[in-house]
Amino acid sequence: MCPRRQVLPQVTSPESALVGVLDAISLETPAEIFRESFIDGATSFAAEKRLESTYAPFLGYDVHRLRREFGTFVWDLRQLADSSRLHSSGYRDHVYWLIDDGEYIGQCSIRPELGTPYLITYGGHIGYSIRPDRRRQGYGRRILDLALDECYSLGMERVLITCDEDNQPSRRIIESNGGQFESGLTMDRAVRRAEGRKSDTDIQKLRYWIELGDRRR
Ligand SMILES: CC(C)(COP(=O)(O)OP(=O)(O)OC[C@H]1O[C@@H](n2cnc3c(N)ncnc32)[C@H](O)[C@@H]1OP(=O)(O)O)[C@@H](O)C(=O)NCCC(=O)NCCS
Repeated sequence: MCPRRQVLPQVTSPESALVGVLDAISLETPAEIFRESFIDGATSFAAEKRLESTYAPFLGYDVHRLRREFGTFVWDLRQLADSSRLHSSGYRDHVYWLIDDGEYIGQCSIRPELGTPYLITYGGHIGYSIRPDRRRQGYGRRILDLALDECYSLGMERVLITCDEDNQPSRRIIESNGGQFESGLTMDRAVRRAEGRKSDTDIQKLRYWIELGDRRR
């Protein structure tokens, strides 16, 4: 199946328009054509012990299994957005990959329904991560901007986004995308464990809202 293409115009003149298309950064539905760069990125996430950013461990994959069964992994990821999950899990999860010039850069996850106590309190509507070897190049800021467009297309009016208090890059990304601070909450031990965190120190979660009123569709 072909991936969904959402190319945003970045330039205005006809000459530079071609450059804009060639350089396009977009969010794509996971697809097998991105296999090589995705596995490269997953290997990079695994090296910093953050493979869970890709959802691979959650779906039962390590990097070796990803190599062997990539098509099945892509299928499993796409199934997370199936509406049948509303009954079984209380929410759907739309996963998109950030693609730059054909290369996998990172992913975001959009949960239109905050259908569990965890999501409504700590998780929020959107999660994102950029592969370690592509950070500090503006991709984090861009992925949230594109994810907000996607939320608007899904019919959402405002989104809840959360981050750890000490996650400076993520705070910058949320605030520069219009995030309005609502409150800070201390994550209790049970929640930290459910997230797989090993640290025993308290973690402050910051909650922000972004209104989508003037977004493009
Ligand atoms: C958070 C994350 C997505 C940032 O991605 P990124 O591509 O490096 O972000 P950007 O390049 O767009 O940088 C955003 C801002 O953070 C700053 N920044 C990035 N990395 C930083 C660092 N290590 N220390 C301090 N500031 C940093 C940038 O300078 C930029 O600031 P500016 O707005 O003043 O220009 C990335 O570090 C990541 O994937 N982390 C792991 C997963 C995660 O924490 N996800 C967020 C969950 S809420």
